[in-house]
Amino acid sequence: MAIQYLALSTMIVLYSLMFLGGYISAAGLGLTCPEWPLCPNGIMPSEEYLIEWIHRLAAATTGTLVIATMVASFLNKRADQKIKITSTLATIFVITQITLGALVIDTKLHAVLVAIHLGIGILLFSVVLLTTLFAFRISSKSIETKV
Ligand code: HEM
Repeated sequence: MAIQYLALSTMIVLYSLMFLGGYISAAGLGLTCPEWPLCPNGIMPSEEYLIEWIHRLAAATTGTLVIATMVASFLNKRADQKIKITSTLATIFVITQITLGALVIDTKLHAVLVAIHLGIGILLFSVVLLTTLFAFRISSKSIETKV
């Protein structure tokens, strides 16, 4: 997949994940699935834990896409230093964020950790947005050189 579409897909999945996180928090559903990494009934979804299950699945998908974007930026010959930096920062933030998600559950939604979880989510979104903009710039440059 071209790097710009990979980065864009990452941003869309991340946005949906953050939207869902906001809903979980506001609806007081944060501890419906009290275990980590899986819910009490294992890997399969169930009605009881569905929203939390989707949040975790979306987090795993986001993590995979963020890492894939970073690898693609290092392999792309036209990629400059900026996209390599933002995609590496995104990888650091996504790993921190997933670890923090586990701590949020372990500490039964400690307020400070939930606030940091939101803060890192915003930082993550910012660097993924920059990565997407840089990726589209790479693709437009390659069209210009062909013309
Ligand atoms: C890339 C990964 C993730 C992102 C971007 C993310 C993002 C968010 C956001 C934006 C919120 C709303 C916070 C608020 O409104 O205060 C949230 C809530 C939450 N997240 Fe995540 N999350 C991620 C991964 C995880 C993981 C792996 C877990 C682990 C189970 C998790 C557990 C939670 C919980 C329990 C809440 C609700 C907290 C509450 O009830 O106040 N998150 N997440």
